[in-house]
Amino acid sequence: MTGRVEGKVAFITGAARGQGRSHAVKLAQEGADIIAIDICKPIRPDASIAPAKPDDLAETANLVKALGRRIVTAEVDVRDYDALKAEVDAGVEQLGRLDIIVANAGSATAVQLWIGPPSPTGRK
Ligand SMILES: NC(=O)c1ccc[n+]([C@@H]2O[C@H](COP(=O)([O-])OP(=O)(O)OC[C@H]3O[C@@H](n4cnc5c(N)ncnc54)[C@H](O)[C@@H]3O)[C@@H](O)[C@H]2O)c1
Repeated sequence: MTGRVEGKVAFITGAARGQGRSHAVKLAQEGADIIAIDICKPIRPDASIAPAKPDDLAETANLVKALGRRIVTAEVDVRDYDALKAEVDAGVEQLGRLDIIVANAGSATAVQLWIGPPSPTGRK
């Protein structure tokens, strides 16, 4: 830890797992407090990737707290502007400031990439 963001506050979307959790832990290691939000449920009915769960966001919080940093979490859909703003405002109220925004929330859908003629290797 080199304290590159000591005393700053970072707001991270999609923080329950994956890269969002990684950003939260790294920024906490570097001295930041965290406002972490995640939808923690399916994003859409046809989603092919298992959804993050409330326990995942809780684990992100545990990891940040174990580093001695503060964290405020909320289960919010980033597509709901009013709810998102309310949680950011609440986080800033608790942590005192906002310096860094990591707009990470998103999802990918697994699709077949080969759309041309049959693959010469025979693979589908
Ligand atoms: N992992 C990769 O190789 C890769 C490649 C290119 C882009 N990305 C993008 O990087 C970001 C993180 O990827 P990851 O691999 O950590 O994905 P992930 O699925 O592990 O994590 C994404 C998190 O975002 C949350 N989320 C999704 N939609 C949300 C919404 N509307 N509101 C609130 N939270 C929401 C999910 O619940 C999940 O916890 C995503 O935007 C992804 O599309 C990832």
